[in-house]
Amino acid sequence: MRVALLGPPGSGKGTQSEVLRDRLGVPHISSGDLLRDAVARGTELGRAAKGFMDRGELVPDDLVLGMIRERLQAGDCNEGWLLDGFPRTLAQAEALDRLLENEGRGGLQHVVSLRVPLEDVVVRLGGRRTCGGCGRLYHVKFQPPKADGTCDACGAALVTRRDDEEATIRARLGVYERQTAPLLAYYSKRGLLREVDGTAAPSNVSGEILTALKDRR
Ligand code: AP5
Repeated sequence: MRVALLGPPGSGKGTQSEVLRDRLGVPHISSGDLLRDAVARGTELGRAAKGFMDRGELVPDDLVLGMIRERLQAGDCNEGWLLDGFPRTLAQAEALDRLLENEGRGGLQHVVSLRVPLEDVVVRLGGRRTCGGCGRLYHVKFQPPKADGTCDACGAALVTRRDDEEATIRARLGVYERQTAPLLAYYSKRGLLREVDGTAAPSNVSGEILTALKDRR
């Protein structure tokens, strides 16, 4: 299955992807995770992307497209994938369509948009903690770890993302409204879009997404 998850920062794309990749049996491809990994490794891409990410701006399309093209060519993507955080601009969406058409392995089948009020996502991102080892996501109030500051799964320390301070969160939300929200109309016109209420408990949101994907198979 070839699926893209859309939604504002903090709407739960990463949280849901952790569940969906297992349920759907496809790799989870997060453009944000790939970029953070490039920054951590100090690659050319990472050095070019870092300033944009720290300011809460989008990394230029050509850089992101090259990275996604390479990732989609990996062997584990033959049976499908779950995109999280990509595409994020109309230019990226159109480039993805062209890329998939050229590769001849099938186009995008489903686009799921998570709806969460903007004030809720500010609270979610302010309390988000991420495992520095395995990347598992937590929230200090909504999804706390069993032991403070430590990952339940691998025992590594939990960290706060650099772009999760309030001013940067608000900048990211503005970018979403201006540059990413227009994709909803783009995919709705093509009959691919399914909107899901992202305010419920994570397990209920997963259930709703899986039902939406089943309905449209
Ligand atoms: P990216 O990493 O993609 O960040 P984002 O889209 O801003 O999304 P987040 O990861 O912040 O949130 P999420 O929706 O995954 O929510 P999560 O599940 O973590 O991008 C980062 C940066 O990289 C961008 O700003 C940009 O610079 C660059 N970038 C990335 N992709 C790009 C692209 N395509 N083009 C250009 N630049 C790009 O949940 C958040 C918190 O809420 C967690 O603490 C979680 O525990 C909690 N939570 C989740 N679900 C629930 C729930 N149902 N109830 C209560 N709490 C919940």
